[in-house]
Amino acid sequence: MSILVTGGAGYIGSHTVVELLNSGREVVVIDNFSNSKPEVLENIKKITGKDFKFYKINYLDQKELEKVFEENKIEAVMNFAGYKAVGESTKKPLEYYENNISGAIVLLKTMQKYNVKKFIFSSSATVYGEPEQIPITEECKTGGTTNPYGTTKLFIEQILQDLYKSDNSWDIAILRYFNPVGAHESGLIGEEPQGIPNNLMPYIVRVASGELEQLSIFGNDYNTPDGTGVRDYIHVVDLAKGHIKALEKLEKEGKGIFVYNLGTGTGYSVLDMVKAFEEATEQNVNYKIAERRPGDIATCYSDPTKAKEELGWETSKTLKDMCKDSWRYIQNKKGANID
Ligand code: UFG
Repeated sequence: MSILVTGGAGYIGSHTVVELLNSGREVVVIDNFSNSKPEVLENIKKITGKDFKFYKINYLDQKELEKVFEENKIEAVMNFAGYKAVGESTKKPLEYYENNISGAIVLLKTMQKYNVKKFIFSSSATVYGEPEQIPITEECKTGGTTNPYGTTKLFIEQILQDLYKSDNSWDIAILRYFNPVGAHESGLIGEEPQGIPNNLMPYIVRVASGELEQLSIFGNDYNTPDGTGVRDYIHVVDLAKGHIKALEKLEKEGKGIFVYNLGTGTGYSVLDMVKAFEEATEQNVNYKIAERRPGDIATCYSDPTKAKEELGWETSKTLKDMCKDSWRYIQNKKGANID
């Protein structure tokens, strides 16, 4: 039996494929490389010393997807395929709704057809909108998303709830990620945003490496200890391990729809991140204070107790690991390009 991973060449998908292979599972990956590169697949093999099946297809293409289900014994599906750039989603809402929501529907319909009913979905803390309370628990109300990307996550969660209501033989885990950063410690896979990054850590890394001149810190007048935005940064390898724990739960107990926050439970400010990065890497990060970014909230961090109690999952990487690993990946890539 295999685990099907959609978007397995992407940032979080690739790290999860590594953990799946390390846990001894058979994996089938699909990806259309819309925001990733084929070399990622080779690097996953280098890290794990293991092989897996790969199909270059778009998950919106039901015919192609059916072929994957025909040719493999799929036990469960993890869905990482999806567009994820907040800013871009405000400019291309139809593309986001089509790719993320229609893609999820095609995938779920295909699963239904082949009677595969274990599904792990990559959701986001963004579904909490302006959070009701900090730290955020899974019981907090959802809604009030501020961009189409976030709304796709919210809608897919709703679709999954409705699907489960209609047929409770599904086993579904909805994982709400906080702020994934870092890279695999090998330096072989990591985050590779196209163009100028939107997110903080990739931006910091590119300023430190000299690719970008200066970081703009979006506001220092928030109601936070130092005035800059506070977030729950989680190492991508810890996040990937959360998926294995969720899968184990579905395999062992199953029969239900479960929602988990995947975060560390600790909030760091933008200035904390800059300082931690400088200390961990001995690089200088040039920054200035700029206007607030529209749609940003002051503080967002998780209460990860439910995942700890029900999945036996806890993060183990430190902020220093997150900084060092992000930096190592970029340095490695540069080195590889020079050779
Ligand atoms: N920030 C800066 N300068 C930058 C980039 C970011 O000051 O150049 C600040 C932001 O204002 C915010 C913090 O750094 O306070 C983190 O910003 P990110 O863009 O890295 O992350 P967000 O918290 O805005 O969004 C992330 C993901 C979304 C996801 C959300 C869930 O990008 O996909 O977390 O809470 F929906």
